[in-house]
Amino acid sequence: MIIAIDGPSGAGKSTLGKMLAKRFGLLYLDTGAMYRAAALAAIRQGVELEDVKAVESAAESAVIELTGEPDSMRVLLNGEDVSSEIRTLKMAQAASVVSTNSAVRRVMVDQQRRIGKAAPNGCVLEGRDIGSVVFPDADIKFFLTAKPEARASRRFEEDRAKGRISTYEQTLAEINERDDRDVSRLDSPLTIAEDSVVIDTSELDLTEVFEQMLAAVVQYQNEAA
Ligand code: DC
Repeated sequence: MIIAIDGPSGAGKSTLGKMLAKRFGLLYLDTGAMYRAAALAAIRQGVELEDVKAVESAAESAVIELTGEPDSMRVLLNGEDVSSEIRTLKMAQAASVVSTNSAVRRVMVDQQRRIGKAAPNGCVLEGRDIGSVVFPDADIKFFLTAKPEARASRRFEEDRAKGRISTYEQTLAEINERDDRDVSRLDSPLTIAEDSVVIDTSELDLTEVFEQMLAAVVQYQNEAA
C-alpha cells in the first residue's frame, strides 16, 4: 500500500504521516528531508544554490539515507548524521531553492520511487509532489492544508519548545515565502493531486485529523478486499 501525503509546510504532514506508518506497519519516507540533505550537500561544497549545474552535481554525488523507525528517523549525508543540522530555518529555505532544480528533482524522485516500491508492506511518503509526480497511482492520496496563520503559530510553538529563537511574525513570513516558491515553481509545483482527500487542519486537533485519515485508509482497504 502506498499512501501519499502532500501539502504546505506546517500542515501536520510529518506527525500524521508517522502515526499512519506506525498504525499500518508501513515505511515512512520524509521526502522534504531528502531535499534538505541535498541542499546541505551543495552548501558544503560551497556552490551557489542558484547555480543549476553545480547543485545538480552536488545532489548526484551525495549519498542520502533515511534510517530508523518513524519516531527516531535519522538522516545521513555521506554516512554522517545531519538530522539536526537540516532542521534550521536556513536549511528549509535552502531546500526550497534547491527543489526548483529539475535535475535535483529527477535524482530525488528516482530514489523515492525505488525506496517506496522496495518497502515490503508499503510506504507512507510525505512531501509536495508525491500524489502528483512520485506516485500518481498511490492507493490513497491526502492533501493536508491549513491557513498560513495556523501553520505559523504551530511552527512557532514547536520552535519555542525546542529552544529556537524566532518571532511569530518571522515564522509567518518564512512560511509565506516558502509557500510562494513551492507553489509557483515550474517543475512539480505544490498542487492538489486528482483524487486527493483534502483536509483543512486549521480548526482540527491531531486526533480529529488522524481519525479522518484512518477512515479513508480503512475504506480503501475494505474496497480493495
Ligand atoms: O517538508 P519540508 O519543509 O522538509 O521540505 C523542505 C522543502 O523541500 C520544501 O520547501 C519544498 C521542498 N520539497 C519538494 O519540493 N518536494 C517534496 N516532495 C518535498 C519537499
